[in-house]
Amino acid sequence: MRTLFDTTSLRGLRLKNRIFRSATWMGMADDGKVTQPIVELYRNYAKGQVAGIITGFTHIAPYDGQLPGAMRLTSDAQAEGHRAITEAVHAYDSRIFLQAALLDTTVATAEGKGTLKSVNSITEAELTRLIDDYRKAAVRAQKVGYDGLQIHAAHFFGLSKILSPLYNQRRDAYGGSAKGRAKLLVDIHDAIRAAVGSSFAILVKINCSDFAEGGLSEEDFIEACEALSCAGIDAIEVSGNYTSRPHVRAHVNEAYFAQAALKLRQQVTTPIILVGGLRSLETINALIDQEGIDYVSLSRPLLCEPMLVARWQSGDTSPSRCVSCNACYQTPNHQCIQHLRKEA
Ligand SMILES: Cc1cc2nc3c(=O)[nH]c(=O)nc-3n(C[C@H](O)[C@H](O)[C@H](O)COP(=O)(O)O)c2cc1C
Repeated sequence: MRTLFDTTSLRGLRLKNRIFRSATWMGMADDGKVTQPIVELYRNYAKGQVAGIITGFTHIAPYDGQLPGAMRLTSDAQAEGHRAITEAVHAYDSRIFLQAALLDTTVATAEGKGTLKSVNSITEAELTRLIDDYRKAAVRAQKVGYDGLQIHAAHFFGLSKILSPLYNQRRDAYGGSAKGRAKLLVDIHDAIRAAVGSSFAILVKINCSDFAEGGLSEEDFIEACEALSCAGIDAIEVSGNYTSRPHVRAHVNEAYFAQAALKLRQQVTTPIILVGGLRSLETINALIDQEGIDYVSLSRPLLCEPMLVARWQSGDTSPSRCVSCNACYQTPNHQCIQHLRKEA
């Protein structure tokens, strides 16, 4: 019988249970730099027994725009600030992965500034530069102690647009079919793997559907994942558009991307991380034991209760207290409104 509390290994990295913290942009960086509250946040998750922590959205291209308060890892100097995060997490025997993201389909000009282009008008040379920026970010991340990196290809940010037929009507090798649209991700994966050697994990977060007419379909998602799986990606986090759905209730409407993840399970052996509305231990254990899901990841439940996993492990197995109100999208530093109400 498989359970949430099994110890597993992902690319040789020991994970003390099957829980990830899903990437969550906290808006706590100072001009892109790591701050002490960010270090404390991740330390706390590690203390709370989260086995794998994926950082919030982190910009990896120097010419990319800026999500307010998001971290950047675009130079060696900036990378050094990340070392405090990786050391804090490793002290509690958890693993830490950088979410490497592009805000939009911005490319570098000859002067090194950013210019926004449609997916269809990005040149091959610009794509090559993008691939190289991912490679550089991975090398920097590895140097400062990250256990791996997650390529953010979901939620209509830069790479997700390249995967989506809504935006990508290219006729070259980077378009034309779901496999073509996934080629950039495969090339990014391959460039990173060639640069970091065998002990650094490469994950991807991807939409199982854009849930939009003419957008990425479930079949496209499966095809893209098959291509990534063939390339040797270490884990696929299954998300989707309308990512943080409201009003999720334990045992009622949990795990809203599970159906797509289960279809993917039939097609690939690559570890699958399921995100989206997981709230009870019973649902999570059933997905892991009976449905073959390898890992689950949590965002809002950990904003609400950073010690949730430790609580479950200690025997208090009542569901997450998160009510999926989504107020956390509006509060300062994306705090749970239940905490703010208590403080008031
Ligand atoms: C405040 C907030 C910020 C988020 N930031 C990110 C992010 O930086 N990167 C990402 O891939 N997903 C982000 N998400 C989406 C979550 O990782 C997750 O996919 C989604 O909330 C569903 O999981 P949940 O039901 O456990 O919250 C964010 C969600 C919230 C609530």
